[in-house]
Amino acid sequence: MNLLVTGAAGFIGSHFVLRHIENFSDDKIVVLDKLTYAADKRFLDPVLDKIKFVEGDIADKNLVTEIVKENGIDTIINFAAESHVDRSISDASPFIHTNVIGTQNLAEVCRDNDVFLFHISTDEVYGDLSDDEPPKKIDDLLRPSSPYAASKAAAEMMVSAAVRTYGIKACISRCTNNFGPHQAEEKFIPTVIRHALKDEPVPIYAEGKNKRDWLYVTDHTDAIEIILKSQLSNSSESSVNIFNISADDEKENIEVAKAILDILGKPHSLLEFVEDRPGHDWRYAIDSSETKKLGWSPRVSFEEGLEDTVEWYVKRL
Ligand SMILES: NC(=O)c1ccc[n+]([C@@H]2O[C@H](COP(=O)([O-])OP(=O)(O)OC[C@H]3O[C@@H](n4cnc5c(N)ncnc54)[C@H](O)[C@@H]3O)[C@@H](O)[C@H]2O)c1
Repeated sequence: MNLLVTGAAGFIGSHFVLRHIENFSDDKIVVLDKLTYAADKRFLDPVLDKIKFVEGDIADKNLVTEIVKENGIDTIINFAAESHVDRSISDASPFIHTNVIGTQNLAEVCRDNDVFLFHISTDEVYGDLSDDEPPKKIDDLLRPSSPYAASKAAAEMMVSAAVRTYGIKACISRCTNNFGPHQAEEKFIPTVIRHALKDEPVPIYAEGKNKRDWLYVTDHTDAIEIILKSQLSNSSESSVNIFNISADDEKENIEVAKAILDILGKPHSLLEFVEDRPGHDWRYAIDSSETKKLGWSPRVSFEEGLEDTVEWYVKRL
């Protein structure tokens, strides 16, 4: 395969590329990344001699077209995104630019060059659930709460419309919260580690009771590989296929923060409750049985993954 992987100097995309090169060394990979605050090109250092790296914007149609034509790209995997909910509350415009316009641009390049599009989305498009609601299924209504989630839902709609109207081949995956090395320092788990290492108060929204379903990052990238394989062998589809990906391992944010403090040997008294995020989603839960039917299941336990994550940040920070 000749893959264009966008956003692969960021958290999840970098793990995808490192693992893909290890498992499919004959494939050609071109990475396109704008190198925003969330990126670190050094994550790709171990494979830089095996891939082509292009710095640029997924919304730049001439650039994406040139990359696709020059490299005979047959598949685009779109990890590129503005991904931090808090930033989207302050200013949503970069989210519209990258997540919506950028994704639409990729869909048009796929149409014009007969390329398969794998769009990486999020469980946040469903909005939140109360404690007694069943996990969301792929046909459930999308009720995004934050500007970030709304931009991701809009991106999905552009992909879905491109399948119907242009006849492109595409699929979408919606994953729960990821954790692991390489995540931008301002996200929740790295923030807890960073403050705890300096013995500073660790900020926790409200009372830390909001629930998230955490998946170790390489379990996410493994699911993407399995879905991709299933889609390529199923190329006659005329509608977009959507897959939920989750570990079914919900935890309150406060539990996660305490587990990190325990690994670092720091007191729970460092936790400091701060004013809640506006529109803060209470709980996410999704039904990923369709993805599991493809033969995928998470392999890294929360405890094991958290130990590895903390160890990585301790060395880096
Ligand atoms: N992190 C999670 O917990 C999580 C969970 C579910 C889904 N997702 C989705 O997975 C994808 C990757 O998330 P992540 O956490 O790795 O994000 P990230 O913020 O760590 O990385 C995003 C990458 O995209 C690049 N980028 C941003 N704008 C760009 C543009 N216009 N053109 C090219 N590159 C651009 C950045 O430089 C960065 O390298 C996103 O689509 C996100 O919505 C993330």
